[in-house]
Amino acid sequence: MLMTDVSSRLSPAILPNSLSVSRLVSVKYAPQRLPVFVFRSARASYDSVETNPSVDSVIEKEEKNILACPICYNSLKSLISHPHGSVGSPASGSTQLQCSTCKKIFSANETHLDLAVASGTKHYTEPLPLSIELFRNPLVSFLYERGWRQNFIWGGFPGPEKEFEMAKEYLKHVLGGNIIDASCGSGMFSRLFGKSEHFAMVFALDYSENMLRQCYEFLKQEANLIDKKIVVLARADAARLPFLSGSVDAVHAGAALHCWPSPSSAVAEISRVLRPGGIFVATTFIYDGLFRFIPFLEDLRQEVMRYSGSHMFLSERELEDLCKSCGLVGFTCVRNGLFIMLSATKPSQISSASCEEL
Ligand SMILES: C[S@@+](CC[C@H](N)C(=O)[O-])C[C@H]1O[C@@H](n2cnc3c(N)ncnc32)[C@H](O)[C@@H]1O
Repeated sequence: MLMTDVSSRLSPAILPNSLSVSRLVSVKYAPQRLPVFVFRSARASYDSVETNPSVDSVIEKEEKNILACPICYNSLKSLISHPHGSVGSPASGSTQLQCSTCKKIFSANETHLDLAVASGTKHYTEPLPLSIELFRNPLVSFLYERGWRQNFIWGGFPGPEKEFEMAKEYLKHVLGGNIIDASCGSGMFSRLFGKSEHFAMVFALDYSENMLRQCYEFLKQEANLIDKKIVVLARADAARLPFLSGSVDAVHAGAALHCWPSPSSAVAEISRVLRPGGIFVATTFIYDGLFRFIPFLEDLRQEVMRYSGSHMFLSERELEDLCKSCGLVGFTCVRNGLFIMLSATKPSQISSASCEEL
């Protein structure tokens, strides 16, 4: 069995017909990039993602693939079988990825790569919190973008297009880089990020297989997105991100933080994978203001969290605390009713000032 770099060997067989695997060949990152360099490369890539030779030649020196084993956090290699070997080859339509350290093999189906820790298990199962199981249901996944998400408007969510514009404002310093759409659901933001061409690569991640299927279906309908091949779909746990540390320019998490069983584990992971200067932007529902002083509502919130596994309605102060405790700085937010969009940044360098800020 031959092992080769993902960056040079991922075949369209991983995500057949549409899903952009070939773009993985040129995923680039610069963990220690200085801010001035980030600006230059992002700007140039934003204007012309792949054709600016000055940008490419600088970045190529730092080129690495950024997908990692969710167990070891070391890089993944693609497995190519011997001509008569038993492991699927690109020709047989089933390229697999293998961790260079623990040797675990990760496979892809028709719609997405499975980069969850328990991927490939035959007998092991574990009960997952309601907030995860709900979205694994095929009917919920089907209905999500066909009415469910639209109801968030009653909680003060401005709607996907407006939320996208707001997120873009927070992300303006990392345009041209790569972005994870964490807990992408049916992919409404992954599609907007992809269509905008503001990012060189969009990693659409979710834990729900059925959400990823919906995401794939919607992507297929956006013909130009398929041609441009900038969205990669993968199943992954937000609390165990399959990326190398310091390899990602931006993480977006729309209406997801309250669904994560452990927001602190997920935000810590986001902080780990962000490069210095990388940006986290998220929306969620908050519980704040006068509500906090109504004892019955506070009790209800605790009970809902206990039984659903959901972290619906954290307060702004709790969210800021959460980001800080995970090593993110410069917390800022916009609020409207129960809606909050927050952003925080991975510090560019550890100075005494930023240590104090933490
Ligand atoms: C309310 S939907 C949000 C979808 C989309 N981002 C949006 O803005 O509408 C929440 C998503 O979080 C996903 N999710 C829940 N727990 C997760 C976890 N631990 N890791 C990854 N995704 C998770 C669910 O599968 C679901 O698709």
